[in-house]
Amino acid sequence: MAGTPIPLIAGNWKMNMVHSKGMGLATGIAEGLDPIGMIPVDVAICPPLTLAAELGAFLAATRIVVGAQDCSPLEEGAHTGDVSANMLKNAGVGCCIVGHSERRADHGEDDILVNAKARAVLATGMTAIICIGETESQRDAGETIDVVTKQLAGSVPDEALNTNTVIAYEPVWAIGTGKTPTLEEIGEVHGKIRALLYDRFDYDGAAIRILYGGSVNADNAHDILRVENVNGALVGGASLDSEAFLKIIRDCPAPPIPGS
Ligand code: PGA
Repeated sequence: MAGTPIPLIAGNWKMNMVHSKGMGLATGIAEGLDPIGMIPVDVAICPPLTLAAELGAFLAATRIVVGAQDCSPLEEGAHTGDVSANMLKNAGVGCCIVGHSERRADHGEDDILVNAKARAVLATGMTAIICIGETESQRDAGETIDVVTKQLAGSVPDEALNTNTVIAYEPVWAIGTGKTPTLEEIGEVHGKIRALLYDRFDYDGAAIRILYGGSVNADNAHDILRVENVNGALVGGASLDSEAFLKIIRDCPAPPIPGS
């Protein structure tokens, strides 16, 4: 089995932040990260597309990777309103969220489309952050593991490696609600995802990062980030506040001491 992966804290700004606010937020995060530069944690922020190129250039000299929130599965052509993965890469974007539950719900995206988007991201050399998670009624019906198993199988392409793919487990009912599963429930789902990834991708599956997302905040991050097989967090609301986001980054567990 591979060693524990370095955690990733990714901020998903969703459809928030006009130019001046977004630049101010990014500046606050970059400045706050500076003195804690030694903490072994990867950091990404996924602003709206209007800010991606400028923030990509602005943050190029920092350890913060700029991500996108979605992309087209197609390469180029007559697809009004769409943006290809290659265009994102060209604009300085390093990773792209695909299959977020808000896209699945608002735009009817299914696993086949999410898989195609993930493949488009991987083909550019960027990292795909692939989101999966059950709705409240699915959880109440005891279907969580079945839903997550099916979404993982359908949404993650065969090309996935630990170096280019991140899974985000985000229970839909926990997103933006202030509700979270218990630590045991998070551990159960992450353990299942890890086992499925290991079965399918062997060494890479042992090291692909599995983020938890859904109402992560400055108060609960410390405990969530210490659940087994939680390798970071996808943070929505709390990523719009630089102090809260920085606290979540600081709360990442220190790596195990070699040989211990
Ligand atoms: P939240 O959003 O942290 O506001 O719940 C998480 C997400 O949707 O990625």
